[in-house]
Amino acid sequence: MALNGLLDIELAVPDPQATFDFWLRRGMTQTAAGVLGTPDRPVQMRITEGSYRHLSTMHLSCESEADLAAIAKRLAEAGVASEVSDTTLSCTDPVFGHVIVIDVGSPHPLTPSQHRAFNGPGEQVRRNDRADAVMNRQPPPPRRVGHVVLATPDFKRSADFYVDTLGFRVSDGMFNRMLTFMRVESDHHNLLIQPGPTSYLNHYAIEVDDIDAVGQFGTAVIAEDPAANVVGIGRHNLGSNVFWYLTDPAGNMFEFFSDMDQIVDDEVWDRVHRRDDWDGKDGPAGFSVWGPKDPPPEFISPPDVKQIAAAREALGLR
Ligand SMILES: [Fe+2]
Repeated sequence: MALNGLLDIELAVPDPQATFDFWLRRGMTQTAAGVLGTPDRPVQMRITEGSYRHLSTMHLSCESEADLAAIAKRLAEAGVASEVSDTTLSCTDPVFGHVIVIDVGSPHPLTPSQHRAFNGPGEQVRRNDRADAVMNRQPPPPRRVGHVVLATPDFKRSADFYVDTLGFRVSDGMFNRMLTFMRVESDHHNLLIQPGPTSYLNHYAIEVDDIDAVGQFGTAVIAEDPAANVVGIGRHNLGSNVFWYLTDPAGNMFEFFSDMDQIVDDEVWDRVHRRDDWDGKDGPAGFSVWGPKDPPPEFISPPDVKQIAAAREALGLR
């Protein structure tokens, strides 16, 4: 295993302070100028200024310097320039144009969630007490950035770059991998590449403790701005995660999620579960198991997509 972690991301937006403050209000903390952290991970998101909203940096980790050298070799073979200095490799994504930084290391382990007591039929776990979500209206702070979803007309070239050149592992695909769910950690997906009208950040995803936290965080966002709601709450098929999608002040869609599939044995997953050609007609491949059956149109074609395309064109990017 070479790549082993999604360490953090950087978002570029026209008004970074508004998005930064938005995440402070959600319980992230400022750990340096423009840097947001969570209790276990002091660096999770950097918010910087950009002429249009986009993912500007993806920061990954790999196990060893030998892994770094192997990635640099594959990048050279693919015609992508990279720089290696000590234990850090950097290159530019050939489709989206964001910076990719890979460090030898691994994500800081997450402190396990304190499980809330849930009662069930014949199972009195929580006795003589109200539910924790009722007593504690503030959910525990967000835990980490778990994945990003990128959309592009060049979805095949992009997915091939992440899988064949960088070494992401495919977990599932839809429509003969028009959509490619891939991972560098045990999460079912740390990255999803899918078709889109231009190359843009479809969403970034913040892991929270549990379904109650997803509900509490989503409710707090729409209490502040009802127009921020996109779609939720529900449970996805591929990845199994509980989701609620909303928009941040910059117009980026993001997801609060919990309870994603964890793949700790690649061979078992590939043999038992993985398919590259889910079509949504059978098996676990539609948008949701429960909750809204389909996402709204802005889920795949955001209202500012033409502005993003124009901004990219001005920079010579597709
Ligand atoms: Fe997601």
